Order: sequence, then C-alpha cells, then structure tokens
Amino acid sequence: MRYHLLCAVAASTAIATPAASSYDYIVVGSGPGGGPLAADLARAGYSTLLIEAGGDEGDNPTYADIMNFNEAANDETTRWDFWVKHSDDPARDLKFKHTTWDTGEGTFYVGLDPPEGAKLLGIQYPRAAVLGGCAMHNAGVCSMPADDDWNIVVNKTGDTSWSAENMRKYLKKIEKNEYLPPGDEAHGYDGWLATSVADNSWAKNDSLPGTRMLRKLAKLTGQDPDKAADLVNRDINEVGENVDETTSFYNMVTHATSKGKRSSPNNHIRATLADPAKYPLTVKLHTLVTRVLFDNATLKAGSTPRAIGVEVMDGASLYKADPKHVPGTKGPVSQIFASREVIVSGGAFNSPQILKLSGIGPAAELTKFNIPVVKDLPGVGENLGDNYEGSLLAMGSAPVESGLITLLFRTPSAPTKKRNIYTWCGAFSFEGFWPGFPTYHGPTQYTCAMVHMAPKSQAGSVNLVSADPQDKPDINFRFFERHGDQDLRELVEAANLLRQAFNAAGEPAAPFVEKHPCNGDTDQLCTDELQTEYFKLQAYSHHATSTCAIGGDEEEMAVLDSKFRVRGVEGLRVVDASAFPVVPGAFPSCPTMMLSAKAAEDILADAKKKKKKT
Ligand SMILES: Cc1cc2nc3c(=O)[nH]c(=O)nc-3n(C[C@H](O)[C@H](O)[C@H](O)COP(=O)(O)OP(=O)(O)OC[C@H]3O[C@@H](n4cnc5c(N)ncnc54)[C@H](O)[C@@H]3O)c2cc1C
Ligand SMILES: *[C@@H]1O[C@H](CO)[C@@H](O)[C@H](O)[C@H]1NC(C)=O
Ligand SMILES: *[C@@H]1O[C@H](CO)[C@@H](O)[C@H](O)[C@H]1NC(C)=O
Ligand SMILES: *[C@@H]1O[C@H](CO)[C@@H](O)[C@H](O)[C@H]1NC(C)=O
Repeated sequence: MRYHLLCAVAASTAIATPAASSYDYIVVGSGPGGGPLAADLARAGYSTLLIEAGGDEGDNPTYADIMNFNEAANDETTRWDFWVKHSDDPARDLKFKHTTWDTGEGTFYVGLDPPEGAKLLGIQYPRAAVLGGCAMHNAGVCSMPADDDWNIVVNKTGDTSWSAENMRKYLKKIEKNEYLPPGDEAHGYDGWLATSVADNSWAKNDSLPGTRMLRKLAKLTGQDPDKAADLVNRDINEVGENVDETTSFYNMVTHATSKGKRSSPNNHIRATLADPAKYPLTVKLHTLVTRVLFDNATLKAGSTPRAIGVEVMDGASLYKADPKHVPGTKGPVSQIFASREVIVSGGAFNSPQILKLSGIGPAAELTKFNIPVVKDLPGVGENLGDNYEGSLLAMGSAPVESGLITLLFRTPSAPTKKRNIYTWCGAFSFEGFWPGFPTYHGPTQYTCAMVHMAPKSQAGSVNLVSADPQDKPDINFRFFERHGDQDLRELVEAANLLRQAFNAAGEPAAPFVEKHPCNGDTDQLCTDELQTEYFKLQAYSHHATSTCAIGGDEEEMAVLDSKFRVRGVEGLRVVDASAFPVVPGAFPSCPTMMLSAKAAEDILADAKKKKKKT
C-alpha cells in the first residue's frame, strides 16, 4: 500500500528537471537555510536552481503529519546516518549506551556488548536528505534564541542588522501564527510558516497526576502554583523585558498547523513552484553537489577566486550516509553555472564538507587530500557546537495522566542571569538517537527531556576523510571539552530539581522508580558525582551548528562575513545553521529559517546595487 502511495505522489509532484544549464542563483540544499532562500530569490524574479540530494516527501503522511516525527527520523526513505564521535577518547565513547555496530547484512547492534565480528559504526546522528531538509523529520519545536545569540553577531561584525530587535522582523515575515489572536506585535500572520500550540486545558484538572507535578514544579522554580494552569499557555516566543532571564512554564510552539500538519520549507518551495509563470524556480532532486566551480581566470595569485557554478552527480542515494547507498554506485557528473552567485546550504555537516571539497578550508587538510587550495580558511569545519541533551526517565506505578509540561528555567550555578535549561515533561520516552529509537518502556514511562541552552564548548569539528564527495566526513563533537565541568554541573542541577517533581504526582502514579540518570533498581546512591559521570558519557544532541561561522574581520577562524559571504571568495555564500557563531538558544530550526529570510534580503540588496552599477 505504502509503495503505491509513494509512486502516486512522485508522479503527481510538479517538479521539473532543469532546462537551462545556467541560472542567476544556485542554492545547494533545501533545508531551513537553503529552501526558503531559493524560493525568496525566485519570488524576486531571479532564475534560481535549488539542488537537493534527496527527493520530495511532502505528501507522505510520515512527514506531513507532525505527530509521526519519530517514524520520520527513522525512515530509510530520507535518512542520512552520520556516525559521530563525542570525544577524542575512543574508550570514553564506547561507554555511550547507544553506540551502534554493523553486524553485517544491514542489521545493527545497539549497545555496550556487541556480538563478535561486529564493526563499530559510532554514535548515530540522524539528518534528513529530502526537500525541506531536517525540518521534514524534526519534532518541529519552534523557539527563539536568547537576544544575545543574535546580538553577538553585531558585536563581532558591527552589522546592526543582526540585532535581536531587527531579527524579529524575519519571524514576523515568515510566520503564519495560528495560536494568538491577530495583532500581536511580536508575531506574523501572513507568512508561509504555520506555528501552533497544543491544547493545555488538561492543566486545569486538579485531579490529574500531571497537574500535581506541574504545581510542584511551580513551587520549585518560584512560580505561583495557582497560576500554573494559565502559565502553561504563555507564549514561548513572546518579546518583552528580561525574557531571557525569565523562568516560566510555556506552551511549546511547533512549526505545524493547528490541525497537526507539518509546516516547513517544503511548503514554501512547493507554493513557489506552483506558479512557474511568475516565479522562475527550478528544483533538481536526487542530485549530489560534489563541489563549487570557480572561474579559472580568478584562480591566479593576486586575484580573488570567483564561484561560477557547481559540479553535480546525478542520481538517488549517492551519498554514503544514505542507508540505501549501494557501494560503488556513481552517477553522471556535470556542471551547472550561476551568473550571480552560488549559495551553499547543506547543513552543519555538509556545508563545510562541500567547501573543503572545493578548495576552501584549512590548507593543510586540503593538501593532505590533494585538493588544490582556492582559499585557506582555517575556520571551515571548526567551532562545531550543539545543545547538550539528557533526560530524567522514570517508571511510575501507574500510567501518568498528563499533558506536556514545558518549562524554561535557570539553574543556580549558571554563569549569567539567563535561563539555561529548556525542559519538557510527559508520559513519553526520549533518550537520544540510534537506529530504531525511541525505546518504549511501557505505559508508566515518564520523561523530563532537557536541552541545555548556551553550551560553552563548541570544540567540535567536521573533517574530510578523503577527496571523494560521496564519503561522509569525520565528525567529532568534543563534548564538554571547554567549560565542561560547568555545563555538566548545570545539567545535574536541572535533573536534581526536576526529580523532586516526580513523586508529587501522588498515588497511583507515584512512587516512581528512576531509570536514569540514577538507576533506582540498584543500591547506588544518586549522587551528583554519579550524575555528572552519567551526563558526561550519555549526553546526546541533534542541533549541530556553527561550522562555517560568521565572524569579524580580525577573527582568524571567521568563515563568513555578516552578509553570509565566504571570506576571501566572490560569488559564494553559506546560508544555513553552520553560519551561527554560537548555538542559537534551545532549538535551531526557526532561527535558521529567520536567518534564511535575512540572507534573501541581503542577497537581493546586493543584486540591486550591482544592477545600478552596470
Ligand atoms: C531528528 C531531528 C530532530 C530535530 N528536532 C528539532 C526541533 O524539534 N526543533 C528545532 O528547532 N530543530 C530540530 N532539529 C534541528 C533542525 O532541524 C536543524 O537544525 C535544521 O534543519 C538545520 O537546517 P539546515 O538548513 O542548516 O540543514 P538541513 O536541515 O540539514 O538541510 C540541509 C539539506 O541539504 C541537503 N544536502 C546536503 N549536502 C548536499 C549535497 N552535497 N548536495 C545536495 N544536497 C545536499 C540535505 O539533503 C538537506 O536536505 C532536529 C534535527 C534532527 C536531526
Ligand atoms: C557586546 O559588547 C558589549 C560591549 O562590550 C557587551 O556589554 C555585551 O555583553 C556584548 N554582547 C554580546 C551578546 O556579546
Ligand atoms: C479530570 O481528570 C480525571 C482523571 O482523568 C477525569 O476523570 C475527569 O473527568 C477530569 N475532569 C475534567 C473536568 O475534565
Ligand atoms: C578550469 O581549468 C581546469 C584545469 O585546467 C579545467 O579542467 C576546467 O575545464 C576549466 N574550467 C573552466 C570552467 O573553464
């Protein structure tokens, strides 16, 4: 049944193959960075080619219905498996309990005791190769970063258009708010990105165990328990005084319609394609960009290299992260040209890889693989950051009736006054990523999932293993490498606070037996030391950013200027989550779509200037 459905979808999707081999703009990758940008450039009248390695699953219910997000992230149709490292110490990484092994014949072993002969893969890090990128398989959580996460770009570059105040206008531009009455100054109502919230009326029912936990959490975080039922509807993307220093319950916003349909760049791209007479957008699916091409005349000493197009390999599943990849398979290679600019938006792993394959990156690394150096840029692939995540998982004595409790709070040792933990609690289990995640622990499972905001390390890297564009890069997050003790302390403080709420659920839901970070089935005491060790080894993440970071003129590791231009190169920009110099808040999806809208404006402003000159 499913097979037929997919065929029908493929046949009815109006996506043309490119007729021309030259465009004004070429955008590589259709996620939150590249997808909206390509649509916006075409809507401004410029012929734009959007190249995407994956296909279009916009009508497939696995992707279209937001509640299926776990299924979507596991789906072979779009999955790109990266096997990453969390540290430089292989022995430490082998203690990660969802370490994955290849047992041969396409089966995985996940755990600490692999069968003989199994080949170590590493820690699974899912990505989606599909029209819309990871916004097609993510949970759709839409949250603004702290103001300082935008303002830091102003500080670094002097470009005031990055102020948090100005960045809000891009949310207003793209948002189609479905959860607030019209007229809220902080929000948009006419954009392409639907945002909605859950019905939190459950919190008014005092006889639910979840409500008792909510009231307890209110007490623990200095909120009025009697107001908790209202606070659970507070707008998490509000503006106002000291928002970033506010500890409060909120209603989790998702980029989905109030009817549960995922809203993503896919919608914006399709709506743009639907009017080909008006908007010159071409989408080329199942195509792997292998490198950026430069005007040979500009590759001499003394001139600035100029990007003029891309080299592509045609075909599905060509990248080795794709579980459907057949070893040895290649596709025909060709060149496509852009008269104005090439924009790389492959995401935090692939954008630095594409730049490096094109000769832009640390010279020593490129030379090692005989890649001619076009521009020595030491920051490409460095500065990889991510939110640390962990969870408090416990089994109740009975099913825990509760809606989702979303809470942003500050733990006592946080270095600034800003809140540092985003948590959501409910009768689900979420313990990170591995093939087949998540584990269902039974009807009494209850989790508080935590995202640590403003992680301080950003010591990770994305490095080539070869000059072969079908190979995956080597990805090492180097968790907790810088200021790790501090970030671990904050995670432990958060777990210690949340734990106190569980048994407030009362009978029959309580008592709970914790599974982790402390294992209540053993005689071990739940000490801070034990929990620190637990999070150090078991933290996971899925919001990778910052590998082609914007930075100031004086910063050696800066890859981009404040207008997304690759430093030292002409006609080339990077627009995606890799551009953020620091991890943007708790969830990067909506911030990346805002960044994309900003990039469109910046690129179009440049195009106008050039038109005037000629
Ligand atoms: C399982 C999961 C759940 C998540 N949940 C949330 C959430 O709830 N909220 C949130 O805010 N964030 C979430 N995120 C993170 C968020 O989705 C990403 O940060 C965001 O999608 C990044 O956008 P991007 O444009 O930088 O990259 P991507 O979304 O990765 O898009 C890059 C695109 O480029 C394509 N591409 C790459 N290389 C090439 C190439 N060489 N040739 C052609 N095409 C190429 C890829 O196929 C992909 O479509 C989640 C991520 C994952 C993996
Ligand atoms: C920006 O610089 C000012 C002045 O040095 C400083 O007070 C502020 O904290 C900085 N903000 C960020 C986000 O870095
Ligand atoms: C409150 O929850 C209890 C337990 O699920 C349920 O029996 C009761 O009907 C609910 N009350 C209201 C007003 O919804
Ligand atoms: C640039 O030079 C290389 C190497 O000499 C050559 O293979 C390639 O075709 C040239 N590219 C263009 C666009 O002229």
